Amino acid sequence: MDFIMCGIIGFWNIEKQAFPVIIDSLKKLEYRGYDSFGLAVLSESGSLNIEKQVGKVSETKCNEVSGKIGIGHTRWATHGKVTEKNTHPHIDCSRKIAVVHNGIIENFQELRNELLRTHKFFSETDTEVIPHLIEDEIREGFSLKQAVINTGKKLKGRNAFVVLHADTEEIIAFRNGSPLIVGLKKINGFSEIFIASDIQAFLHETKEVMYLDDDQIVIIKEKPEFYDINTNEKIEKRLIKIDIDFSPVTKGDYAHFMLKEIMDQKQTLMKAINQNDRELMHVAEEINNSRGVFFIGCGTAARVCHTAEYVFSSIADKHVNFVPASEFGNYKHFLLPETLVIAISQSGETADVLEALKIAKEKGSKVISIVNVQESSVSKISDYVFHINAGPEKAVASTKATTSQIAVVILLAYACSGMLREGDRLLVDLAAKVNDMLNPRYSEHIKNIAEKIYQKENMFIIGRGVNYPMALESAIKIMEVSYIHAQGFGGGELKHGPIALIEEGTPVIVLVSNDVSRDEIISNAIEVKSRGAKIIGIAPENNEAFDYWIKTPDTSEISSSIVNLIPVQLLAYYLGILRGHNVDYPRSLAKSVTVK
Ligand code: F6R
Repeated sequence: MDFIMCGIIGFWNIEKQAFPVIIDSLKKLEYRGYDSFGLAVLSESGSLNIEKQVGKVSETKCNEVSGKIGIGHTRWATHGKVTEKNTHPHIDCSRKIAVVHNGIIENFQELRNELLRTHKFFSETDTEVIPHLIEDEIREGFSLKQAVINTGKKLKGRNAFVVLHADTEEIIAFRNGSPLIVGLKKINGFSEIFIASDIQAFLHETKEVMYLDDDQIVIIKEKPEFYDINTNEKIEKRLIKIDIDFSPVTKGDYAHFMLKEIMDQKQTLMKAINQNDRELMHVAEEINNSRGVFFIGCGTAARVCHTAEYVFSSIADKHVNFVPASEFGNYKHFLLPETLVIAISQSGETADVLEALKIAKEKGSKVISIVNVQESSVSKISDYVFHINAGPEKAVASTKATTSQIAVVILLAYACSGMLREGDRLLVDLAAKVNDMLNPRYSEHIKNIAEKIYQKENMFIIGRGVNYPMALESAIKIMEVSYIHAQGFGGGELKHGPIALIEEGTPVIVLVSNDVSRDEIISNAIEVKSRGAKIIGIAPENNEAFDYWIKTPDTSEISSSIVNLIPVQLLAYYLGILRGHNVDYPRSLAKSVTVK
């Protein structure tokens, strides 16, 4: 099965060539997938001009195709090979219907097997069932609009797709689960209309948008027409002006976005804690009065949610639960209208998070979110949103967003304990310490350590308390950027099995904070050192157990989550560089995971 996660763009106008516009938008959508890309443009003669390429759109040359109306796609595949054949757009047998798609068609095998009796398939993708289904519907006498609706209704799962038909000069888009947004621009009296999975695709062209909601289609011609797929009724949409700064983000003097974003942490913590006190207090009251609080997120954001358990316990004496968003469905029986679900997401577009929030909403639970990208799908469905204001995070590996999310979690916990002022002071102090810490000598020291260990194939990271989820997060960072196998453990857990993997020279990173757990984690370090491990201590003070020491500012136990993570981010960066990887775009990953 070909699970596809990707960026979609459609462009309609009567004046200019669509090709450069689509390519430009695809570059903006690359964070959603960069395995391959393709586009279909309607030619003057009424045929579809299709071009596909394997590789990143920003790095790969693509033959220009002529026409003013077109659709495009940048792909990330986890199943089904990265080949030109599997690249979107996909077409029907008559080659008149081109489709780009985001989502997973859960019943695709069933549909494909049925279609195979009368259709020829060109790819291994689930997407390809869509043009063939539309083809059948049209053959049965339905209009393109109705054929798209009938087809969309046959698909199980969270999907969005955009259709271009050679015989009509319109683009039709269907949404059920995966976001699609229309952008409108008037230029010299002529309309230019965009449809994309994310406003970032066209924000450089227009800030005027209309949102397509689930169970709706939009027909794009001179102006967009929206319809409910169940009643077939026309829907009037409000034109919304987006107030977001979309100036292009550059690496500045840095070699990579990842390094720039690590260094941005000199400022981003201060921006994150600059929240509205009244809203913080209001949400704190909701948390205190709730029956059950669940923090949900994926990957790195899930590690922040895990951290929240320690933060709330330590600061607010409050039990909150952490559940990876992809597992949240298993907890739905515990959801009440008084339950709070707090989603943490950098992009606000992660499919598993959106799915979990849908479950929460169905159960009547309130949704609070901590997000970076404004106007994201998660923020739109939340009852309260805290923006972390970290600015665009371009590198696939999350760094500055992570520490900003932790800072907001800490602030919320202080608000719940009735000590918001104290929390604020502590975090301002922490931000200043991080600012001092991130100097060129510090990076150089970490680079030198990376040079000693970059050829190792296994690494372990241990921590206790709040540094346990940080050990797990450290492992994610090292793995995704350097491709070194890294695993994080609670310090006390190693001796229950994983210690068998420690050999002479195995690097073990030890996250230490100056509190009651210090002696215990040092003991754990000594346990592995006596079995040959090379210890990299990340700690406020040196210790004879350490082979290498990375000094961190002395902070509270809870704040050590932030100051201990930052040096690991730098270490991961240098390990990736030394191993010759593209640290901003690691293999097989995408910035925003928009499939379940
Ligand atoms: C790893 C990383 C991912 C994301 C995860 C969730 O560095 O960035 O693990 O944390 O895909 O993404 P968001 O936060 O956008 O929901």
